[in-house]
This record gives sequence, C-alpha cells and structure tokens, in this order.
Amino acid sequence: MNIIKVNDTQMGGKEAFKIVKDDIENGAKVLGLATGSSPITLYNEMTSSDIDFSNMTSVNLDEYVGLEPTNEQSYHYFMNEHLFNKKPFKNSYVPDGSNPDAEAATKAYDKIIEENPIDLQILGIGRNGHIGFNEPGSPFDGTTRKVGLTESTIEANTRFFEDEKDVPRFAYSMGIGSIMKAKKIILLAYGENKADAIAATVDGPVTEDCPASALQNHPDVTIIVDEAAASKL
Ligand code: GLP
Repeated sequence: MNIIKVNDTQMGGKEAFKIVKDDIENGAKVLGLATGSSPITLYNEMTSSDIDFSNMTSVNLDEYVGLEPTNEQSYHYFMNEHLFNKKPFKNSYVPDGSNPDAEAATKAYDKIIEENPIDLQILGIGRNGHIGFNEPGSPFDGTTRKVGLTESTIEANTRFFEDEKDVPRFAYSMGIGSIMKAKKIILLAYGENKADAIAATVDGPVTEDCPASALQNHPDVTIIVDEAAASKL
C-alpha cells in the first residue's frame, strides 16, 4: 500500500487528482466513484480541470434503497451535484435504489460492472472500516447486494438528514469482490474519527471485521490521509 500524507482535504484532492489524470492519460476509461465528504475535493479538481470525461464511463459504489435519483439525499443526486452536471460522462451508473426488487437491481448492476471493468476505483471509508456499504462481516468475494446499515453508519449519516428516522436502513452496494477487481484503487480518509479504521486497514489483520483490510491483498492501492486520520499508524 502506498500512503500519501497530506495537510488537508484540499491537498488530498490535488494528490488524488494527479493519480486520476495520469491514469486517464494512460488509457483509463472506467472510473469507479464514491460518495461521502471525502471525495468532494477530488471532484472539485475534476470539474475545474480541462479533462473531457464525455468518452468515459463511471460506476458508483452504492445507493440507498428506497430513494429516487431525484431525492436530494440520494447518492445519485449527490453525484449529479458534485460531478456529473458539470462534467458529464458518456455513461454514469449508480445502483437503482428506486427498484424494490433487490434481486433484479443487484443482478443488473453486476452485469454493468462486468461490462465496464473498473480501471480506477475511488473509495472513502466508514468509521468501522466499511467500503462502499460493505459493513464488517461482508464477504471478501461479494458482488452487488442489498445490505443493512449498522447503527454506527446510520448515526454517521444522520448529519445529512433532517431526522435520524429518515436515514435509510438499507442500501445496494457493490461487493468487496468487485471492488478488488479494479486495476487501481485510491482510498481517501480525513479526520480523527477515521484513525482507527485506517490503522486497522493498513496494519491490522486481513479480516472481515475490517472490510477495508481486504485492500492489503490488492496490488495497487494508494491511501491518501491527513495527519489526524494517520495518527494511529
Ligand atoms: C458512506 C458511503 C461510503 C463512504 C462513507 C464515508 O457510508 N457509503 O462510501 O466512504 O460514507 O463518508 P465520508 O467521506 O463522508 O466520511
């Protein structure tokens, strides 16, 4: 694992952007994208760049079950706001949270991932080490599935909703097996509340108790962290 320590999220976005730009110049066509606050400075770098994404494809990690793409709390809406409205891709895929048929929604998404192998995957990390919405205990060879969110994730996400009761309890998430197939991975983590998860990811045992520890088995991972997130390394 390659670890880059940065002073703040702005610098983190710039470092991540350098890798993204380089990968695109070297032929990357499919970007795996993430939501959450951590990738925002990277998306700002992308939207203010002169890179044309209109020949590229993006595949997002996850979406809440029960939310339409037009819902302001949906991950689809988040991606439109932060990236796609300003820099359209040829195709942008996000799991269909509005489809109540989990079997159909997840199968359809696996087909999309299979047809669009991910060159570069962007990841954030949950306080409990989750990646996408793969909570502790998720199988390392998992594909897209419907997942229940843990109390700690629901609590962390409450800040985006008016009431804790409004936070969806389920999501469709790309599995760890699919994430691991990406050729290159960048994980972004900022702030003290990510320090335990980063320590477990980098130095801990490779265990389903910390989903991101699976990344130790990937040949090309860069972790971009600020001092606080790196404080327990
Ligand atoms: C959610 C998303 C994850 C993201 C995590 C951390 O749980 N499903 O993909 O990594 O939040 O978010 P943040 O970057 O806001 O800390």
